[in-house]
Amino acid sequence: MKRIAVLTSGGDAPGMNAAIRAVVRKAISEGIEVYGINHGYAGMVAGDIFPLTSASVGDKIGRGGTFLYSARYPEFAQVEGQLAGIEQLKKFGIEGVVVIGGDGSYHGAMRLTEHGFPAVGLPGTIDNDIVGTDFTIGFDTAVSTVVDALDKIRDTSSSHNRTFVVEVMGRNAGDIALNAGIAAGADDICIPEKEFKFENVVNNINKGYEKGKNHHIIVLAEGVMTGEEFATKLKEAGYKGDLRVSVLGHIQRGGSPTARDRVLASRMGARAVELLRDGIGGVAVGIRNEELVESPILGTAEEGALFSLTTEGGIKVNNPHKAGLELYR
Ligand code: F6P
Repeated sequence: MKRIAVLTSGGDAPGMNAAIRAVVRKAISEGIEVYGINHGYAGMVAGDIFPLTSASVGDKIGRGGTFLYSARYPEFAQVEGQLAGIEQLKKFGIEGVVVIGGDGSYHGAMRLTEHGFPAVGLPGTIDNDIVGTDFTIGFDTAVSTVVDALDKIRDTSSSHNRTFVVEVMGRNAGDIALNAGIAAGADDICIPEKEFKFENVVNNINKGYEKGKNHHIIVLAEGVMTGEEFATKLKEAGYKGDLRVSVLGHIQRGGSPTARDRVLASRMGARAVELLRDGIGGVAVGIRNEELVESPILGTAEEGALFSLTTEGGIKVNNPHKAGLELYR
């Protein structure tokens, strides 16, 4: 391949810039030209595509967000959108594309591959909910951000003998809650992957105060319910003490990436270019047991593919992600 493109799609994640930088610098070192696509698949369809140089990615490795902008673009689920995107890429002489994003972004990459256009997916999301990888780009930074916030909440919680419900991101996955909760010494962690009873949480809180604790921090993954709903149910289950809800929100998506995310993004970005250089598309890069791995995006579960098509034309996730629970068994 002589010319490739890179885009970021879905919710942004710290380390996306580091991944773009790695794609650009590795490609240039391989004699491949790189184009940037602004605003994800929306920009692809609109032809918002421009050349990137080594200098374009200078001073970007430590920056949060994505300088290529990101967007959620459900229209790309339609064949017309996919074909229009490919037409634009061809107009610019682009022969392969690196897609950095979450599972919605992978679906787009899968469709490009189905139409015979080589695409390589890199997992970029704070949620850590992508199949085919132990860790996603941005997760480590988000966990650090949440730990920092929990430490601060613990200060005020202890000063007032208050119970806090801290709602953290993770639409369907409890990885941020689980990891940050453990790192910050939370008293309860509630995630969508594990059932719990409100009565038990109430007992746990009461027991803690009886033992002389001066705070109680509950980390709640948003995939369970909102912090406000949780607080209401806690009261319904008999909790009578002082209670506050704190929703950390989008601060979890911002900030300078940690060293771990920068290294992960750099390794994955370089691997994506090697794959396209060797004419390989339709795969996603992941990291398992610290080794970079590739999985076919679409195929059968036996082939190790991340997604299969159902007989009704839907998409089935093979080996669905199960939060980081195995890590702590
Ligand atoms: O990036 C993933 C995620 O952070 C989810 O955890 C969260 O539910 C969602 O994005 C929020 O997305 P938006 O910024 O589009 O509201």
